[in-house]
Amino acid sequence: MSDKIKKYTNGEVTVVWNPEICIHAAFCAKDLPKVFNPKKRPWVNMDEANTERIVEQIKKCPSGALSYYMNNEEEKIEDVQAENIIEVVKDGPVLIYGNITIKSENGTEKKESKVTALCRCGASNNKPFCDGAHKKINFQG
Ligand code: FES
Repeated sequence: MSDKIKKYTNGEVTVVWNPEICIHAAFCAKDLPKVFNPKKRPWVNMDEANTERIVEQIKKCPSGALSYYMNNEEEKIEDVQAENIIEVVKDGPVLIYGNITIKSENGTEKKESKVTALCRCGASNNKPFCDGAHKKINFQG
């Protein structure tokens, strides 16, 4: 695990933050700014919403940079009840909502749930996933 990964907890749920894969979609800061405020340190304040609301928000994180586990359970991928929806983000990735399996060219499979961001600009160092590089190259399309 990267040493840049940070964890925040309210005793019930632990939020795991991996800045290296954040695509700065900022859904968290826009939808729940009392908890996720990039201008504050620490930027995640677990006292500003209940566990259910924090978990609901984390499930919307398109890059997987934010994840969570319940403190009384092991970290796990959770299937979500959702229709599969594909959304093209202007100047950014393709977002896929729902449970999917991604098969790589070497035959490995990775299961994803909630929201997955796939690179559309070609500059990601973590293909097929978006790693935020579209901002650096000023991708338009
Ligand atoms: S679309 Fe985000 S890195 Fe390519």
